[in-house]
Amino acid sequence: MSPAASPPVPRHLAVIMDGNGRWAERRRRPRVIGHRAGARAVNVCIDFCLERGIGALTLFAFSSENWGRPEEEVGALMKLFLNALDREVEELHRRQVRVRFIGDRARFSADIRARMDAAEALTAGNTRLHLVIAASYGGRQDIAFAARALATEVAAGRLRPEDIDEAALGAHVALADLPPPDLFIRTGGDHRISNFLLWQLAYTELWFTDVLWPDLDATLLQRALDDFARRERRFGLTSAQVAGGAIEDSPA
Ligand code: FPP
Repeated sequence: MSPAASPPVPRHLAVIMDGNGRWAERRRRPRVIGHRAGARAVNVCIDFCLERGIGALTLFAFSSENWGRPEEEVGALMKLFLNALDREVEELHRRQVRVRFIGDRARFSADIRARMDAAEALTAGNTRLHLVIAASYGGRQDIAFAARALATEVAAGRLRPEDIDEAALGAHVALADLPPPDLFIRTGGDHRISNFLLWQLAYTELWFTDVLWPDLDATLLQRALDDFARRERRFGLTSAQVAGGAIEDSPA
């Protein structure tokens, strides 16, 4: 199957929301204040996706490595997640947003897990925006879990080792039911993927900004979209092939 050409707006946007801590430190405030401001910026980003007709938004809220942060900061983030789940889910449902979580949710407390399950169940039928929160997520862990699932199939005799290919592994990583992200945005000035969607970002356009996440606004997001619209996505082919229509304009 040919890969998809760049749609005018990304079908799927993936975001690393970096810079909350520095935003607070610059104001001589505790880091948790930055995370609270970051939670407000999440709403700016969701509003933008709804207005622009972006079908899926995946936000990196907490990495598998973030558990190693000081206990006080992890505790504050957990409280923030709990409050956000209590406060925002009804409104997201009203706006026809489907909410979903990826990552190792077994590491969260029972009350957070229960709210995650409830948010997913309540919003399961919504189709306007697919909002994915990556929490206790790691890209390597995602691929390792997919490999384990395939190994289990082989051990049970339902799959032969020679049947394992990109499609088989790709079907077992997170978000296999969504188009891969067309555009990745990272705020906060660092130029790296930080163990986010390693498999899924293979041909994603990357966009970085020095702006700290709590300072996010629609103008900045529009700048990223304008830049994305100017990029030629070749998926390993040549410009001439792309111009000749070798890349389909259909979901990957
Ligand atoms: C990275 O900034 C941000 C995080 C580890 C947490 C992200 C959480 C939020 C945006 C708040 C709530 C989210 C939801 C989905 C309700 P950093 O702390 O690494 O910043 P720094 O690089 O400046 O230290």
